[in-house]
Amino acid sequence: MMMVSKVENDVGNSKYIKSAFYFPLAFLFSANMFGFLSVQMCMFVLLGVMYGLFINGSTPVDETQRLHDKKRSSIVLVGAGLGDPDLLTVLALKHLKNADFVVSDMLVSREILRLVDKDRLFVANKPKGKAQEGQNELMQVCLKALKQGKTVVRLKIGDPYLYSRATEEVRFFEARGYKPLVVPGLSSALTGPLSAGIPLTSRGVADEVVISTGMVMKGSLSRLPEYHTKRTIVYLMAVGKLPSLSRNMVLRGYPRDFPVAIIERATTTKERVFRGTLENIVRIAKINGVVSPAVIVIGKTASLDMKLATLEYSRNTRDHGEHGDTMIV
Ligand SMILES: C[S@@+](CC[C@H](N)C(=O)[O-])C[C@H]1O[C@@H](n2cnc3c(N)ncnc32)[C@H](O)[C@@H]1O
Repeated sequence: MMMVSKVENDVGNSKYIKSAFYFPLAFLFSANMFGFLSVQMCMFVLLGVMYGLFINGSTPVDETQRLHDKKRSSIVLVGAGLGDPDLLTVLALKHLKNADFVVSDMLVSREILRLVDKDRLFVANKPKGKAQEGQNELMQVCLKALKQGKTVVRLKIGDPYLYSRATEEVRFFEARGYKPLVVPGLSSALTGPLSAGIPLTSRGVADEVVISTGMVMKGSLSRLPEYHTKRTIVYLMAVGKLPSLSRNMVLRGYPRDFPVAIIERATTTKERVFRGTLENIVRIAKINGVVSPAVIVIGKTASLDMKLATLEYSRNTRDHGEHGDTMIV
């Protein structure tokens, strides 16, 4: 007996699955009531199972589940890490290679973007003051590709959730029937300092880390953590706020000679590291033309330098790109 079932595929079109796996249960029950199954019935059941498993590839239930799973994974938010392609996770690389279409943050390094063919790549543009428009546009671009049945990777800088709009993106796609996967990436907050040889905690020096941002919703300065000698504070998106940040910290009781480090374009071949104190870091940043993206580390750990044991070795042994300048001021 043949049964035809209808399922939706991942671009919303209907697909019919034929299967001989279903048969009237009542018929089987009645056969069991008499304590036997006829040879014909056994053959019939066997053929049905074989058809389902070998010809159709799966049972109808499996098939529906498979399509459902495919739909679930057709949009993947992938953390790109900081910029060094060697620091992508294996899973991130797998998704990048498999994607039909990649929609990337502008901050993602060229070295990583080179892993994707140009005709599969869209780099999102979020001009200053028009970030929301840029965000809306990139989500629409993803949606269009999804509707065309493409597997889409939304490539995000660092860890996908930290100081990003990943929550909004996940909800946006969920509301339209897609269930995004989220693949972690190394965050600049942790790996940026590491790349510069700065351990964020170290016994006897610091036992606590606060991650914060120079930006809050309306562009005003974020809340300052209270001064504590054994606390390290990591600021993201704060290069432009460095003058007010350091001034306010001193006003709030932080020592003027409290160490500060800036790690610009961490892990890329253009990485630069600057060290100073709350008193002189603004001057140092200005003289050297520090630009975003950069991580700012404030605390006693910022004066530690474990350079020889960090990523510099990996970077210098890579055979792509020129070597970055590392400047210790
Ligand atoms: C919108 S936030 C996104 C953070 C990201 N989700 C993460 O986990 O690293 C962007 C900020 O991350 C930091 N950042 C990202 N990549 C960086 C890099 N290669 N070097 C230094 N800072 C970086 C900068 O502070 C930048 O302003």
